[in-house]
Amino acid sequence: MIEFQHVSKSYGKTQILKDLTYTLKDGEFVVLIGPSGCGKTTSLKMINRLIEPDSGHILIDGKDAASINPVELRRHIGYVIQQIGLFPNMTVAQNICVVPRLLKYDKARCDQIAHELLEMVNLPYEKYGSKYPSELSGGQQQRIGVLRALAASPPIVLMDEPFGALDPMTREVLQDEVKSLQQKLNKTIVFVTHDMGEALKLADTIIFMESGEIVQQASPEEMLEHPASDLVRSFLGKHTSESSAPSKVENYMRTNVFRVKKNRGVLECAEMMARNSVDTLLVTDESGKYLGTVSIGDIRHWGRELTSIEPLIRQTVRTAQMGDDAKESFDYLLDSGANYVVILNEDNTIAGIVTKTSVARSVAQNLWGDSK
Ligand SMILES: Nc1ncnc2c1ncn2[C@@H]1O[C@H](COP(=O)(O)OP(=O)(O)OP(=O)(O)O)[C@@H](O)[C@H]1O
Ligand SMILES: [Mg+2]
Repeated sequence: MIEFQHVSKSYGKTQILKDLTYTLKDGEFVVLIGPSGCGKTTSLKMINRLIEPDSGHILIDGKDAASINPVELRRHIGYVIQQIGLFPNMTVAQNICVVPRLLKYDKARCDQIAHELLEMVNLPYEKYGSKYPSELSGGQQQRIGVLRALAASPPIVLMDEPFGALDPMTREVLQDEVKSLQQKLNKTIVFVTHDMGEALKLADTIIFMESGEIVQQASPEEMLEHPASDLVRSFLGKHTSESSAPSKVENYMRTNVFRVKKNRGVLECAEMMARNSVDTLLVTDESGKYLGTVSIGDIRHWGRELTSIEPLIRQTVRTAQMGDDAKESFDYLLDSGANYVVILNEDNTIAGIVTKTSVARSVAQNLWGDSK
């Protein structure tokens, strides 16, 4: 249990934390959220004594943190900072085992920890254990950062905007992993974010802070139902029910698509596809109106006898009009296995395409809001 009792902190004349009092239960996933500068990081860093309060106490399992040796304290509290902070000259396995080695675990035990943890996030030890951070993607590095914080099996893990820098898909996967690790390992997690979608997804309890004070401490459901202030409501914004209005196809459309006129030569088109790594092109008439698509398969098969692509144009790809409901196209993409739908302007010129990636992005936006 972590208890904040009347904790205050000022820098110069500015009071950063104002008489904070709250209790975090064991095994709870607590998310601190609020506008930039409201004191989230400051209160997080007080738990492992990277910052000391001016007044008040922080009790960890009933013991005043101020009376615990800070080095000792930090060995038992995992900490994930925003910039990951892996050691570039250590392998993945060595990075994970920094704290176990400080705690003088023997090599066999360290190896076993690295093995087990990597297994849990689907990065097999054999393949990843001896890689260096620079050989990993951002999302993989972030996972290692999280594993490192868990390695010595600390009962408490602090995470300060750990997924802020990731794309929405990777963030989603890591959120799922962290939530399932927490449930499996029964940790108390204090997680800072300014992303309400992330908070709603992960938290047992959300603590909303503003100017160094707690505005609301509630479960996600409670906060959605009864936001305590206009600021909380504006953070919840699109996650409240009125946000799920149907969206138009153009919101999910890619406009940089490869198009050619019907009188173009087959070789020219084959080269264009190879150069851009695509296997179909959209074909238009002289005035730019959509006629259909031409595929690399047809060009390979029939192309030798032809000068232009015109005889190879097919109308197999589904089309939709600007202003159509996106859901219809999404359902079609998911059900049919087709790769894209062509979106046409009113005059039948090409506006763009909607792809399966667009569907995924739309799901992400609905769940977690716009990502920067
Ligand atoms: N060392 C310092 N000296 C002076 N002011 C500081 C110091 N550290 C933080 N502050 C101020 O304290 C306030 C709270 O900072 P804190 O880092 O806790 O905010 P935060 O809620 O984590 O914000 P963000 O979402 O931007 O990370 C800010 O106004 C910040 O400018
Ligand atoms: Mg911060």
